[in-house]
Amino acid sequence: MSALTDKRIVLGISGGIAAYKSADLVRRLRERGADVRVVMTRGAQEFIRPLTFQALSGNPVHSDLLDPAAEAAMGHIELARWAGLILIAPASAQLLGKLAAGLADDLLTTLCLASQAPLAVAPAMNQVMWHHDATTANVDRLRSRATHIWGPAAGSQACGEIGPGRMLEPDELVRRVERLFGNRQLLASRRVVVTAGPTREALDPVRYISNRSSGKMGFALAAAAQRAGAEVTLIAGPVALATPTGVKRIDVTNALEMRDAAEEAADACDIFIAAAAVADFRPAQVAEQKIKKSDSRDEDRLTLVKNPDIVAAIAARRKLRPFTVGFAAETEKLLEHARGKLQRKGLDLIVANDVSAADGGFDSDRNSVTVIDANGCETLPSALKTELADRLITVIASRAVQE
Ligand code: PMT
Repeated sequence: MSALTDKRIVLGISGGIAAYKSADLVRRLRERGADVRVVMTRGAQEFIRPLTFQALSGNPVHSDLLDPAAEAAMGHIELARWAGLILIAPASAQLLGKLAAGLADDLLTTLCLASQAPLAVAPAMNQVMWHHDATTANVDRLRSRATHIWGPAAGSQACGEIGPGRMLEPDELVRRVERLFGNRQLLASRRVVVTAGPTREALDPVRYISNRSSGKMGFALAAAAQRAGAEVTLIAGPVALATPTGVKRIDVTNALEMRDAAEEAADACDIFIAAAAVADFRPAQVAEQKIKKSDSRDEDRLTLVKNPDIVAAIAARRKLRPFTVGFAAETEKLLEHARGKLQRKGLDLIVANDVSAADGGFDSDRNSVTVIDANGCETLPSALKTELADRLITVIASRAVQE
């Protein structure tokens, strides 16, 4: 039985020459037992006729929001509830912009707003459009809402240029759909707690000590755990990210608040993932008023005190001890330092990442990690944090659930 047997997929098709490849995509999804309903934008119909998709999917093709026949058959709200996944392939630059802005001026964009199903888009456009700041901003906004951005691939384009912008091939898209559905039940009925983002350790009412963590890695893990069927609590330091769908969020500011929230949440948790960049130290004193430069010498000293080690305390629990995963943020001797933390903190698993790497670590959309436990290590190559998170959840589930 395929991971796609009886899965309900709405395939959105927007305008672009890659629309012809979507016919093959429908065929492959159906071969694997999926039930596919196609929704085409007006632009898509300029490139390929709806009849092609009606024949391949075995279902009527939807195109207009106010199509009486379609509404009578299966209205757009019913279609939104029916979908187990909305995949848009190809996704044009214009469509990405409308999704990012939350517009709903045709059937496809209305569906995306009305549905709570996971959304995946396969961008396809000229490489200059792909690199345009507006497109980048739209993609970032979609990613912050846990939209899967699958592709684009780089290579020669229909316009004769070479570069990123080609829609991923149908077989690669099918593999991603299978992985997404395959992950769906990995953590069913499990309770997962994730810490994310930096902490801020106050010096006075105005100043604080912090770090460059954006929270992206932890938020992606919370979203991925939720997609895998878990009940997820996300304990977030000060970050500017939207809460992933279906995730309970607790906002904290400093390490002591994060520790209190983590200790409480860990009492009802099966898996604890500490992705937060928690300050190891805090100022011994917090000034009640803003420290005045005039009151300070040219060189002043600051006394710091150690913060509690949140993940180590969770791992040291005798009762109610969850499967405990830490992260290691290193700039050198990555595996050696990570292994040291795995042992010192008593963790079940540690995720090592080189935070000095150009396209990884703090605030980057991408990361590459090495997962280490007592039995060895496995490197997950550079990928978008949203995709890496799905892979990490698969690895964590394979170890935690067998426990
Ligand atoms: O948030 P992003 O911008 O996406 O960046 C992601 C990340 C780089 C922050 C993330 O991938 C990461 O590496 N998080 C851990 C950062 C960190 O504090 O690593 P560390 O080696 O200093 O700490 C080791 C582990 O102990 C971590 O799991 C940390 O959460 C935990 N810890 C540390 C100190 C403390 N007082 N309590 C803790 O629980």
